[in-house]
Amino acid sequence: MNKDEIISWLKENDAKKLESLWQHADQVRRETVGDQVHLRGLIEASNICVRQCRYCGINADQGRKVQRYRMNMSEMQQCAQMAVEFGYGSIVVQAGEDYGLTTQFISDFIRWVKDNTPLAITLSLGERPESDFRTWKTAGADRYLLRFETSDRQLYQNIHPPVKGQLHTDRFEILRQLKSIGYETGSGIMIGIPGQSFDIVANDLLAFSQLDLDMIGLGPYIPHPETSLGKGENLITLSPEQQVPNDQQTVCTALALTRILCPATNLPSTTALSTLSDKGREQGLNCGGNVIMPNLTPLSYRRLYEIYPAKSCIKEDVNEFHNQIRTRIEAIGRTVGKGRGDSVKFLQSKQQKH
Ligand code: 5AD
Repeated sequence: MNKDEIISWLKENDAKKLESLWQHADQVRRETVGDQVHLRGLIEASNICVRQCRYCGINADQGRKVQRYRMNMSEMQQCAQMAVEFGYGSIVVQAGEDYGLTTQFISDFIRWVKDNTPLAITLSLGERPESDFRTWKTAGADRYLLRFETSDRQLYQNIHPPVKGQLHTDRFEILRQLKSIGYETGSGIMIGIPGQSFDIVANDLLAFSQLDLDMIGLGPYIPHPETSLGKGENLITLSPEQQVPNDQQTVCTALALTRILCPATNLPSTTALSTLSDKGREQGLNCGGNVIMPNLTPLSYRRLYEIYPAKSCIKEDVNEFHNQIRTRIEAIGRTVGKGRGDSVKFLQSKQQKH
């Protein structure tokens, strides 16, 4: 699929044509990664962050407004234990870029998980130094997620200022680093960022396949009223014909195109998509998705991890969601994944190396 075709699909509004694209993506998903839906237990370990991303509700600018927390070792261990009890194959440790989550603390947690559980561990802790990535890989971490958010340099610099006194970073470079260290590597984007044109999203999707990613996370941009972008400050304004909408249809189309371009990747149906509608999880699974990330963060912290408002998981009880999600997966003819749910892509490339 070339760039023009991608752009015209992203702009498509004909319901029948879209349905045929989503079904095609669903078929590609079935043939490459099968009917299993892998469940990853999400642990939001800290909402402290040094970055000032203009879209994100827990950025450093929020200062006074956000009550900050950082989980301790025993809280993190309890979350991991819960993942084991629910039969999940892996956990995702996500946080703001918080250097109070020290290299040593994360290593100790990884070692504890590896010594006491069969779980795979994904880290999503921001742009840490390469030495941290190496140390955590040695400790036993399996996967790392770092969304590049947008492949357009100007838009990226507009929404993602560097830490004070530092230069702009290059997330593509960091992703290459992560791959070379041996992580199963994931990235992704938000759909509908103000200033994001169809041309830019088409480039993003092509970048997914060029980067050869094992996991791709893609959801709608949801304005947060306490952020400068959410307040509409200093926007790159595009005409309505050029601006990509942040609606469900466009996200599903982008998911479907991603599945077609990167057939063997792991593709979650994201929480942000499910925030747009009650059936968002199912919709994501029906147009290419094969992963769901149930939230295991204790409820008292969860409302504080407000990267965007009205996150669908804020009030979900962990047990209730767990019971529900199995039924919902089976209701659309899919099965709950067993084991770690490694990316088929990653396993294939590993085999080729040996
Ligand atoms: N809307 C949607 N997604 C967001 N993220 C952060 N802020 C928002 C928002 N306002 C996404 C980013 C980040 C991921 C953890 O959450 O893509 O990488």
